[in-house]
Amino acid sequence: MKNYKRLLAYIKPYLGLFGLAVVCIICASGANLYLPWIIKDMIDKVLAERDMAMLNFISVSIVVVFAFRGFFYYWQSYLVSYIGQRVVVDVREVMFRKFQRMPMSYFDKHQTGETMSYLTNDVGAIQSALVDNLIEMFTEGAILIGSIGMMLYLDWKLTLLTLITVPLVGSAMRIFGKKIKSTGTVIQEKLADITSLLQESISSIRVVKSFVRESYEIDRFKVENELNFKATMDNVRLTSLLTPTVEFLAAVAVTFIVWFGGYEVVNGILSAGALVAFLTYAVNLANPVKRLSRIYGRLQKAMAAIDRIFGVLDLKETVNDKKDAVELPKVVGSVTVENVTFSYDGIHNALENVSFEVNPGQMIAFVGPSGAGKSTIANLIPRFYDVNSGAIKIDGFDIRDVKTDSLREQIGIVPQETLLFSTTVMENIRYGRLNATDEEVIAAAKAANADKFIRDLPEGYQTQIGERGLNLSGGQRQRMAIARAMLKNPQILILDEATSALDTESEKIVQSALDDLMVGRTSFVIAHRLSTIFAADKIFVIDKGRICEQGTHKELLELGGVYSNLYNIQFSNL
Ligand SMILES: Nc1ncnc2c1ncn2[C@@H]1O[C@H](COP(=O)(O)OP(=O)(O)O)[C@@H](O)[C@H]1O
Ligand SMILES: [Mg+2]
Repeated sequence: MKNYKRLLAYIKPYLGLFGLAVVCIICASGANLYLPWIIKDMIDKVLAERDMAMLNFISVSIVVVFAFRGFFYYWQSYLVSYIGQRVVVDVREVMFRKFQRMPMSYFDKHQTGETMSYLTNDVGAIQSALVDNLIEMFTEGAILIGSIGMMLYLDWKLTLLTLITVPLVGSAMRIFGKKIKSTGTVIQEKLADITSLLQESISSIRVVKSFVRESYEIDRFKVENELNFKATMDNVRLTSLLTPTVEFLAAVAVTFIVWFGGYEVVNGILSAGALVAFLTYAVNLANPVKRLSRIYGRLQKAMAAIDRIFGVLDLKETVNDKKDAVELPKVVGSVTVENVTFSYDGIHNALENVSFEVNPGQMIAFVGPSGAGKSTIANLIPRFYDVNSGAIKIDGFDIRDVKTDSLREQIGIVPQETLLFSTTVMENIRYGRLNATDEEVIAAAKAANADKFIRDLPEGYQTQIGERGLNLSGGQRQRMAIARAMLKNPQILILDEATSALDTESEKIVQSALDDLMVGRTSFVIAHRLSTIFAADKIFVIDKGRICEQGTHKELLELGGVYSNLYNIQFSNL
């Protein structure tokens, strides 16, 4: 219930509209209350007194009342849906903001489908909880109160009689219903007993026969079988008793009401029309009671969704800027990694005691088997995760002391697979720097060897990319990623197997674009093919989360260790 209150806080901005909606609901359902009144006038005035003027009046008022009701019905639906949808839009946006701020580790642990279902199904459940329940609650509440009010007005004694006898019959029905339900459960249990006994004695028939226990088993079965019969008959007895009893009780209740009502009519205390109107109101009471109890069930269901949503909203955003975080000034690009140990799951270390230093503008390469921890280093520099111990410094700033946005603004990443958004080629490249002009975008595309293929696309830079749009080849995607990075113009560059998924032909084109991109920037290159990193200022060989060798290509070859082995494997068959 605590979370339901929190949800109500989202309705607060629309409280004025909400009040208006409630007024409309009450007016619309109030119109329903007029119908029995028509019956009353019809009987008492038109039929009994042959009052033509009354007949005309009734005819006109039916038309007027229904017009009135239609008007308020429209506004009730419109306003409540408006509020419901506004709340959904607001909650959805809050959720989306939350997801944008969640740490990478959240997305490691949760599947895309799960996250999406929060935003679609659960938020949708809120909408129906609000819209349907609120309308129904107020409509039925108004009809309930209105009907009782009308009944009291028509004849308060008869109303009291009704309000006492009807609930009595109702609770008698409920008590019976519960009993029947419980005998039903007993039948199910007995049936289950029979089944398990059957299964047991048939599957162990060999044992039964070898001990000559057939008649023993038959006796056992007979007992269970009889118990089942008894349970079923208990149930039958109750159900057969229920219908006549309830009907009898209802008949007695109705008799009381009709007798008393009739008595009053005979004695001139109540008019015939008023009695009929009264009975119509009384019958109408059944609906609101039934529907109001259904609302409770629906609320229960919505609560689960609401709990899930607030559960997500309460999650901690682990990588948060410190309170006194400073803006990272434009960096020169020296990177120091000091004794870094990091684990994704708190059990296995993905990196252990990794230390190295990079000077501005240097190209650093990481090689090693898959799962060694190369990408993990690439993840830690933009602070997608926080180190467990040690520190990463850029230009002397510990990256935990600066604003994460100002850090990431200065780092460009070209991943193995580039994700493009479903928009135009132009906008996809502009993602690198949102305020770039068209000319700058095109210049970046040119620098990334992408301009030519883009111009060959059906609509050039305005071509739509995405599921229904055009699909680009891996090499083309990578060049778009490079163009994005060119546009962003970061001082630090991370290329995580940027060419690994490409065939040799496109790799050459992409590689030459990458070489241009790296000029003058501190670059971290993770490479599968050693040919791309011969020129690196320093190569680190990573294995099991540790640096096991380091040096230039030449030094490592001379060392004759892991690197030279790798080299020999890759180049032996050339
Ligand atoms: N998001 C993640 N969550 C949990 N463990 C991960 C995650 N990413 C990588 N790992 C684990 O960390 C280790 C290093 O992975 P990674 O840095 O991706 O290796 P490499 O890039 O060298 O192939 C591996 O054991 C891998 O299973
Ligand atoms: Mg990797």
